[in-house]
Amino acid sequence: MKLTIAITGASGVIYGKRLLEVLRNKKIETHLVISQAAEKIIAHELGATKESLEKLANHVYEVDDWSSPIVSGSFKTDGMVIAPCSMKTLAGIANGFAENVILRAADVALKEKRKLVLVPRETPLNIIHLRNMLELAKQGVIIVPAMPAYYHKPKSIEALIDFVVGRILDVLGIEHNLYQRWQDIHKIC
Ligand SMILES: Cc1cc2nc3c(=O)[nH]c(=O)nc-3n(C[C@H](O)[C@H](O)[C@H](O)COP(=O)(O)O)c2cc1C
Repeated sequence: MKLTIAITGASGVIYGKRLLEVLRNKKIETHLVISQAAEKIIAHELGATKESLEKLANHVYEVDDWSSPIVSGSFKTDGMVIAPCSMKTLAGIANGFAENVILRAADVALKEKRKLVLVPRETPLNIIHLRNMLELAKQGVIIVPAMPAYYHKPKSIEALIDFVVGRILDVLGIEHNLYQRWQDIHKIC
């Protein structure tokens, strides 16, 4: 399996980092792009560098490098995940505004009818955010909001993060045991 991964400038860059760690452990090939805004949030929220996250990926591209293979539909992948996905990037995808490598790669995923998974993080949501998400959902985009559940009784922030990353893997059809499923909890209740 081969996936394009983007990390954009929303709060919750830890979701992108954890996703990369899990995909690496599963030996899934990753092609990574990190936006300029995300780079700043990685420094602020994780006290880390963009490069330290890039080490978790198999291939890395700059957000303005138009020679990146992921800008072309002829470069085959099994899909793309943007985690977290800012409202700006979401708006760009919803409106076909492919002005950087992340937006273009998402545009390619849409035109090639490949799986596109967005992990938006914003609250509260305005009508423009909601309209853009509805438009994307109509196009087959899978919206996995960064909204952890609590029915599995998480005991740490890591458990909350793994719940969201687990839901991303679920929609991609990748097996994992990052969180306890409701059927299993239900049995012991
Ligand atoms: C500390 C910080 C946190 C932010 N959090 C969010 C957020 O949670 N969601 C969001 O949509 N934008 C957020 N933004 C705004 C985006 O970073 C901004 O719109 C940026 O242009 C997004 O660019 P990108 O999508 O190319 O990464 C945040 C900005 C900063 C500085």
